[in-house]
Amino acid sequence: GGAKHPREGNFSFEGPFGTYDQGQLQRGYKVYKEVCASCHGMDLMHFRNLGDKHGPFWNPKYPNPNDNPVVKALAKEAQVPDIDSETGEALMRDATTADKFPNPYPNATAAAAANGGAMPPDLSVMAKARHDGANYIYSLLSGYVTPPAGLKMTSAQHYNPYMAGDLTPFWEGKGHVPPGGFIAMPAPLRAGQVTYDDGTEATVDQMAKDVAAFIAWTSEPKATERKQMGFGVIIFLLLFAGITYASYRRIWKGVA
Ligand code: HEM
Repeated sequence: GGAKHPREGNFSFEGPFGTYDQGQLQRGYKVYKEVCASCHGMDLMHFRNLGDKHGPFWNPKYPNPNDNPVVKALAKEAQVPDIDSETGEALMRDATTADKFPNPYPNATAAAAANGGAMPPDLSVMAKARHDGANYIYSLLSGYVTPPAGLKMTSAQHYNPYMAGDLTPFWEGKGHVPPGGFIAMPAPLRAGQVTYDDGTEATVDQMAKDVAAFIAWTSEPKATERKQMGFGVIIFLLLFAGITYASYRRIWKGVA
């Protein structure tokens, strides 16, 4: 039993000085929008967030992301439910930068019903909800393999060595119980599924990495600010320690 340890995505945002790679976030958004969003919501995301500082479509020319034409255009591509203010009728309209990302299903029951009883979880903070989140998402998405012969499974289940679980009760093969678990999500990525605007080749590995980076950003959009602030605080403390030591030397100078 037990899941396989995630593979290293070697992401640009790792470490105390790491920052998001804007091109990668843009590619990741495209994968999310064109592949994942048909099953998964991101309830904490508004379209304007795409233009936030250090975000995928951040442009210093538009300090207010609601003015960013790229962000406006991306919002307009989506349809969101609303109520006609005159007639009170339910309708669909183009999204604006003020709208949340639309949900693929009207509610959790419908989401579960459409996926064989398993509700696709909200992905807004998925990189924080799982241990080693970005590497895990990258490994999970690119890690689907043919289930080993001897594994008893139903057609609604998919085998993934990175999914948490214990396959002991389902193992009738020889040797060790295979790592990982069953997941209700079928392998979502196929090579060439999206066409990247920057010409990057859309391999499964590339798309998995890019969407994992995008989810790392939605999970912690202020990571760059946090690191910059932390660095400033350390510099300040070092300088302050020096001043404190110098004044200590001075105050006690000549005192026996
Ligand atoms: C679960 C990501 C596309 C249906 C998950 C999980 C992640 C994820 C991280 C959680 C796994 C865990 O519990 O540790 C993604 C990403 C996608 C994508 C990044 C796009 C590349 C899809 C699509 C569908 C889908 C297209 C529907 C056809 C599900 C379902 C679950 C799930 C039903 C729940 C699985 C279970 O609990 O067994 N997904 N997903 N996902 N996803 Fe996706």
